[in-house]
Amino acid sequence: MTTAAAPYLARRTFAIISHPDAGKTTLTEKLLLSGGAIRAAGQVRARGERRRARSDWMKIEQERGISVSSSVMTFERRGIIYNLLDTPGHEDFSEDTYRTLTAVDAAIMVIDAAKGIETQTRKLFEVCRLRDIPIITFVNKIDREGRHALEILDEIQEALALDVSPMTWPVGMGSDFFGVYDGKKHLFCTSDGERGGPYTQAKPVTGIDDPILVDTVFDRVLAELSENVELGEAGYAAFDPESFLEGHLTPVFFGSALRDYGVEDLLDFIAEHAPAPHSQPATGGRVIAPDEPDVTGFVFKVQANMDPKHRDRIAFVRLCSGTFKRGMRLKHVRAGKSIAVSAPIFFFAEEREIAEEAFPGDVIGVPNHGQLRVGDTLTEGEEIHVTGLPAFAPEVLRRVRLSDTMRVKQMRQGLQDLAEEGLVQIFKPDLGSNWIVGVVGMLQLDVVIDRLKNEYTTEIGFETVPYTTARWIECADPLKLQKFIEANRMSVALDRDDKPVFLFKSNWEVNYIGEKNPDIGFRETREIVHTH
Ligand code: G4P
Repeated sequence: MTTAAAPYLARRTFAIISHPDAGKTTLTEKLLLSGGAIRAAGQVRARGERRRARSDWMKIEQERGISVSSSVMTFERRGIIYNLLDTPGHEDFSEDTYRTLTAVDAAIMVIDAAKGIETQTRKLFEVCRLRDIPIITFVNKIDREGRHALEILDEIQEALALDVSPMTWPVGMGSDFFGVYDGKKHLFCTSDGERGGPYTQAKPVTGIDDPILVDTVFDRVLAELSENVELGEAGYAAFDPESFLEGHLTPVFFGSALRDYGVEDLLDFIAEHAPAPHSQPATGGRVIAPDEPDVTGFVFKVQANMDPKHRDRIAFVRLCSGTFKRGMRLKHVRAGKSIAVSAPIFFFAEEREIAEEAFPGDVIGVPNHGQLRVGDTLTEGEEIHVTGLPAFAPEVLRRVRLSDTMRVKQMRQGLQDLAEEGLVQIFKPDLGSNWIVGVVGMLQLDVVIDRLKNEYTTEIGFETVPYTTARWIECADPLKLQKFIEANRMSVALDRDDKPVFLFKSNWEVNYIGEKNPDIGFRETREIVHTH
């Protein structure tokens, strides 16, 4: 008797990282189309356009409304379930992106062929590297004039200190664009119609000297392709699955999301080589393996304001182990309470559905009234917390100014709620003055003002503070820590979990105070594991 393979082995949970405008939205749409998840082009496109018009909060709100339904996009293709987790495009919401990356097993890095590695790509890449997430590189827009293929490969290799392994090659770029050559599968992917038109067929070829290529492609383009392939084979690493899985090597595909080149290659590659759900580290040195029978999962994102009239939220839970069934009671470890998950949601590109059953790698949406926070762990009873979800030191700090002092309670509740969603961090100064909020990007401040007004009928403003950054403080000796806090009461505040934070006036001060207090640790990130 043969036993069926565990369902989680057919799951591929991944995200796309890129600098704005590199083509993430277009590629997302094309992946969904290829997977049969959307019927017509345009759904995701509309979102991209909206996102670009981000001059005021109304538009952010619109974007949020749209991105809610597409935070997770699940589709099935040839027996593989793809869970594509969306990440916000705007860098001011990068914390959200970082946390989403804790819930994926692989990432596609989209690079614009004309621009190479840009700032946001690099930052996001570093987060992937910290977690050893395997990266597949997609060099997009080769239908436009771009940089030389070898130059792009060198840049990825040098800028990211990563081995690159070219999997396909562009056959010309810009006005000379004929398609994509896949030397491994011996395919010439090209258009039926005019040169550079949308991808329609993969023609089998014996090699670069195949008459199909020789007869259609300009001589100079073919000469360049031939040189690329030759130099590519000699100068770059051969694809090594192990090195890829360890995050040391990135396979590179050239393509054009707009014209469908390279899209199928990515899905085929993910099916064949991207990892099935991996183990998840947890407290106490525990490692949760996907084939364990009991259900565990963690919240990597909370989306509120689905309906502004209700304070309902959806917690996005990535399952780590077990087989989840609708109606299950799970232990919400932080609160020490059991919750019945009676209406879990699956997210498809165009619709949502009640999730009857889910497996490791899947993401379910759990509606709740604010009990579930980013970082929370759900189990069948075990007292563990999934680790590895960071909170980052804020780069912008502001003191809250309240117009109507009668509304302190509502303001505090609102800020606490938004902090639990992961939108802002709050710092409560020891000496009783108004709370300070910390964000990574200024745009988040507008969102806070607007949401407090609409959802908590509380008008607030922000004042500048003399602080430029914050660090979580810790010390092996609690007495020493207490002494340090007492000696620096003006600069110490408590975060939303009452963990002490030092507010610094400058980077110089960070170094100075650090050097003067070698026993105290000043941390730029903190695990958001809540152990009360
Ligand atoms: P993003 O989500 O990473 O920000 O990028 P998005 O997909 O929105 O793409 C940014 C721009 O690049 C869009 O053009 C899009 O059409 C274009 N683009 C994406 N992929 C390709 C490609 O493979 N080839 C070419 N030539 N262009 C590509 P736009 O003019 O800003 O928007 P739109 O008017 O086309 O919607």
